[in-house]
Amino acid sequence: MGSLTGTNALVTGGSRGIGRAICQKLALQGADIVLHYNSNRAAAEETAATIGRPVRLVQADMGSLEGIERMFADLGDLRLDFLVNNAGIWRDTPVGSSSAAVVNEMINTNLRGPFWVTQCALPLLKDGGRIVNVSSVAGRIGVAGGRSLYGATKAGVDSFTRNWALELAPRRILVNAVAPGYITTDMTEPYFSDPAMLDRTLKRQPLGALGTPEEVADVVVFLCSEGAKFITGQSINISGGLVI
Ligand SMILES: NC(=O)c1ccc[n+]([C@@H]2O[C@H](COP(=O)([O-])OP(=O)(O)OC[C@H]3O[C@@H](n4cnc5c(N)ncnc54)[C@H](OP(=O)(O)O)[C@@H]3O)[C@@H](O)[C@H]2O)c1
Repeated sequence: MGSLTGTNALVTGGSRGIGRAICQKLALQGADIVLHYNSNRAAAEETAATIGRPVRLVQADMGSLEGIERMFADLGDLRLDFLVNNAGIWRDTPVGSSSAAVVNEMINTNLRGPFWVTQCALPLLKDGGRIVNVSSVAGRIGVAGGRSLYGATKAGVDSFTRNWALELAPRRILVNAVAPGYITTDMTEPYFSDPAMLDRTLKRQPLGALGTPEEVADVVVFLCSEGAKFITGQSINISGGLVI
C-alpha cells in the first residue's frame, strides 16, 4: 500500500513515453489510474498491463472539444484527486513556411486541449486535489529550427499553471507544472537516433545525459504527495541543467 492508496488520477497521454511512466509511478504509490490515449489503443493496453490491477482506459483526441466532452461523459460521476495534463505533440513549424493545418493542430492539441480537459475535469476534481501540467523547457528558451510554436504552446501551459493556481486556490486545488528538457521517448526518437544530433545535444547537457520518463514521473508523484501541499503555481525544470 502506497501513500496514494484510495486516490484516483486521470493522466492524459498515459499510453506512451512520459505519460506511461507517470501512470506506472502513481499506481505504484497506490493511485487508481484513468489512462487516456488517443490513437494507440495497443500501447494503452500494454501500459495498463504493466500496472497489475484494473486501469480504466479512456479515449479522446485533444484536438476535438466534442471528443474531450464525450470522454468526460463516459467518466460519469467519478471523483478525481489528480489530473495530469500530459498529452502533447511536437511538430516543426518554421515561421514563413508552415501550413495552417499544422499551426491549428499544434495549438489545438497542446493548448486548447489541456484547457478544455481541465474545464471539464473541475466538477469531478475534489477540493484539495492537484493538477500537474506537463510543459517544457522549450517554453523558456529559443531553439533554432522551427520550434517557436511548440515553445509558445508550452509557455502557454506554464501560464495556465500560474493562473489556475490563483483561480483554484479558493478550492485548495494545487496547480503545478513539470518542464522536461530532452527526454528519451517516441517524440524525440527521430532526433536522437541521429548520432550527430545526439552528440551535439549531449555536449550541451551539463549532466551529460538525456533524461528518462521515470525522472519526470518521480517529480509528478512528488507534486501529488503530501510533501508538496504548500507548493502551487510553480513550474519545475527537469532538464539535467540545460535550463537553470
Ligand atoms: N520527450 C521530451 O523530450 C519532452 C520534453 C519536454 C516536454 N515534453 C512533453 O511531455 C508530454 C509527453 O511527451 P512524450 O515525449 O511522452 O510524447 P510521446 O511519447 O509522443 O507520447 C505522447 C502521448 O500523447 C498522446 N497524444 C498525442 N497526440 C494526441 C492527441 N491529438 N490527442 C490526445 N492525445 C494525444 C499519445 O497518445 P497515443 O499513444 O494514443 O497516440 C501519447 O500517449 C508532451 O506534452 C510533450 O510536449 C516532452
